[in-house]
Amino acid sequence: MQLLDGKAISAEIKSEIKQDVAEWVKSGGKKPHLAAILVGADGASQTYVASKIRSCEEIGFTSTLLKFDADITEDELLEAVNSLNNDEDVDGFIVQLPLPKHISENRIMEAVDYRKDVDGFHPINVGRMCKGLPAYLSATPFGIIEMLKRASIETAGKHCVVIGRSQIVGLPMSILMQRNEYPGNCTVTITHSRTKNLQEICKSADILIVALGRPEFVTPDYVKEGAVVIDVGITRVEDSSKKSGFAIKGDVNFAQVAPVSSYITPVPGGVGLMTICGLLTNTLKATKKEIYA
Ligand code: GUN
Repeated sequence: MQLLDGKAISAEIKSEIKQDVAEWVKSGGKKPHLAAILVGADGASQTYVASKIRSCEEIGFTSTLLKFDADITEDELLEAVNSLNNDEDVDGFIVQLPLPKHISENRIMEAVDYRKDVDGFHPINVGRMCKGLPAYLSATPFGIIEMLKRASIETAGKHCVVIGRSQIVGLPMSILMQRNEYPGNCTVTITHSRTKNLQEICKSADILIVALGRPEFVTPDYVKEGAVVIDVGITRVEDSSKKSGFAIKGDVNFAQVAPVSSYITPVPGGVGLMTICGLLTNTLKATKKEIYA
């Protein structure tokens, strides 16, 4: 078994971006500026956004955090989105999900200028990704693709099973794994809560990507000997032995599954850190206008 070490790979990518930014700015380019909108006081979202902002500082980006109370109206949030759309200094921005129930996430995503949509959630970016056109790829699938690439994991002709059909991970992941390039060219099966024989389908996967949000759901009964296992789950589970009062669990029972896998991502220290790299890479592309003029 080999560990797909998100900590090491993301550190390498961040240092590459940092160098790229320094050269870009030195030659007269604009310093990249990422903004984030955070609504409410969800602990996990606060942690993710803080980590995104900290990463910007580390690599030489400007960052802005706009915080709103959970009772903000949809119209008020749309106004904030518009102000970032029109702010010439902001190259890219994200609206951290999930949003409170009274706000339509789809409406907010569609309101983001697709040229600043560094999360890759706008229908134009999703559609262009599906057609194989240049687009901002959503950060988590982007990070996973980069991890597979940097570990030189073979994907062509492999059976890739994705558990979960979310807009953020499962759906875009399945599209990227079947496209005609590396990493890709997989035969992809996308599974979800209504899938029958889930265990049997997963057991036939050469590459198993797990994004359903149920701590330690995947046990060795779901995994073929020698499979590549990518764990996207990040759930806070109460743990009184920790200072914070919680532990972070993935969707895969790591201790049991690691011995039967060829490669596996740990949680924490796996896919989560790669997601931030996807976002930073997209922001740099936005600054350089590499995708849209
Ligand atoms: N919530 C969970 N993952 C993400 C992400 O990649 N982007 C945003 N904006 N919200 C999230």
